Amino acid sequence: MATNSSKLNIPIFSSLPLIILSVYSSGSPATESREFSVKEATIEDLQLAFKQNQLTSRQLVEMYIREIGRLNPLLRGVIEVNPDAINQADNADQERKAKAPRSQLGLHGIPILVKDNIATKDKMNTTAGSFALLCSVVPRDAFVVTKLLEAGAIILGKASMSEWAHFRTFASPNGWCARTGQGKNPYVLSANPCGSSSGSAISVAANMVAVSLGTETDASILCPSGSNSVVGIKPTVGLISRDGVIPVSPRLDTVGPISGTVADAVYVLDAIIGFDAKEEATREASKYIPPGGYKQFLKPHGLQGKRLGIVRNLGSNFTVSSEVTEAFEHHIRTLRQRGAILLHNFEINNLEAILNSIANGETLAILAAEFKQALNAYLQELVTSPVRSLADVIAFNKKFPELEMLREYGQSIFEMAEATDGIDIDVKAALLNLTKLSRDGFEKLMRGKELDALVTPGYDISHVLAIDGLPGISVPAGYDSKGVPFGIYFGALKGTEPKLIEVAYGFEQATKIRKPPFQA
Ligand SMILES: *[C@@H]1O[C@H](CO)[C@@H](O)[C@H](O)[C@H]1NC(C)=O
Ligand SMILES: *[C@@H]1O[C@H](CO)[C@@H](O)[C@H](O)[C@H]1NC(C)=O
Ligand SMILES: *[C@@H]1O[C@H](CO)[C@@H](O)[C@H](O)[C@H]1NC(C)=O
Repeated sequence: MATNSSKLNIPIFSSLPLIILSVYSSGSPATESREFSVKEATIEDLQLAFKQNQLTSRQLVEMYIREIGRLNPLLRGVIEVNPDAINQADNADQERKAKAPRSQLGLHGIPILVKDNIATKDKMNTTAGSFALLCSVVPRDAFVVTKLLEAGAIILGKASMSEWAHFRTFASPNGWCARTGQGKNPYVLSANPCGSSSGSAISVAANMVAVSLGTETDASILCPSGSNSVVGIKPTVGLISRDGVIPVSPRLDTVGPISGTVADAVYVLDAIIGFDAKEEATREASKYIPPGGYKQFLKPHGLQGKRLGIVRNLGSNFTVSSEVTEAFEHHIRTLRQRGAILLHNFEINNLEAILNSIANGETLAILAAEFKQALNAYLQELVTSPVRSLADVIAFNKKFPELEMLREYGQSIFEMAEATDGIDIDVKAALLNLTKLSRDGFEKLMRGKELDALVTPGYDISHVLAIDGLPGISVPAGYDSKGVPFGIYFGALKGTEPKLIEVAYGFEQATKIRKPPFQA
């Protein structure tokens, strides 16, 4: 069985302290003092504690900042703390006290970290982890940040990440960026934290914040979520605006929530979806958004009657360990017991062609061309910036090779991208080809078999989902004998988040595998 509870011997993580709060009500000091721990606190827990006057947003922000101070020097999941977080918390507390209508909003008074490639027009930097963008000034908050603030959330800070969303070079390790150094997996420090939304996953896993935002082009939410035992939702591309997000590929990029539970991810998702006039992709995708949002699909019996395709492996290059395989077989039985209808050995047509196009660099060549165009557009829109083009960034790295560890990691993808010349005819042909592979393969098969989702033990399914902007969810699925977490991955057709959420939530409620990284 997957849930191995071996004790980890990391002395500095002896325990997360319970913080004793004195509670004052109606002007007179209360005689009681209640304990509130941020450890594993969900959004609902926090809202309840606010409501019962056990906790203020200011106290909560102070607790998280203390935890960041204690854990982050080692874990490096946070790149900057928002100097205005306490002010935002005070505002939230006042609104709650005054019973302002805003205080009823789902994320009101809840601290969130956003990945460092998501623009905030405040005292913080937006750098994708690179020194090249330090002190650049963004024109406005990213659309998702505006939405979070409208929903009452507190921007606690920026999460570290694999630098440039791991699109400068493949030679640097997952979770590394020049500004913070190596982000660490809080379960086993030597284990891969995965990326590129490494800090977003690490920080939630280690209870340095309740929830976070990551971004994904291919695997960047799903993989770190699995590796750090948190939930990650990679939504259908276009469901969430990417305005103000440092891009890789506008065709594939998406923002998505990372959290301790499926419910928390869905609350954040509900806050950030929607049409954005600046973003054409949101026009088409907004038709998928159900009235009332997604929280209605948090159904305890969500697995009942769901048709799931079981994908045990994606070919010999993508193997999972025997421990993961064993846990997966156990989970399949759970899915069946909870009423899901399983199609075993679900074979994805064209899978080999898709994986080959990744292996032979065809996909990378397309991404490189898209990246150059999109990054240049982003940099040109900045109010002020030390770099205005990909060529400038390449030159910056050469000027500061030590700062950016250029000798160690190089910048081969940057150089490859710089050598591209727009989305030319060859790129367009390759793109059409890839999309066709997905539509005639995976997507046709899902429709033909009337599947609600596919289920797989390896995050590599993200490659299949990436091509045509399809959604996926990662849910904690176990810990190996060394204590390293792994996830289970659900993927589906465009716009089918309602079904996907029912399945993921049903699985989570049946298993409840996530546990915090250090023994309390
Ligand atoms: C943003 O970067 C500047 C330049 O290094 C730094 O002085 C400032 O403290 C940074 N902002 C935050 C909130 O860390
Ligand atoms: C599988 O791995 C081998 C060896 O690294 C490589 O040559 C091949 O292209 C890979 N194939 C796929 C489909 O990824
Ligand atoms: C399109 O895909 C087919 C099948 O994988 C491949 O043989 C062909 O070279 C591809 N064409 C382009 C333009 O990428």
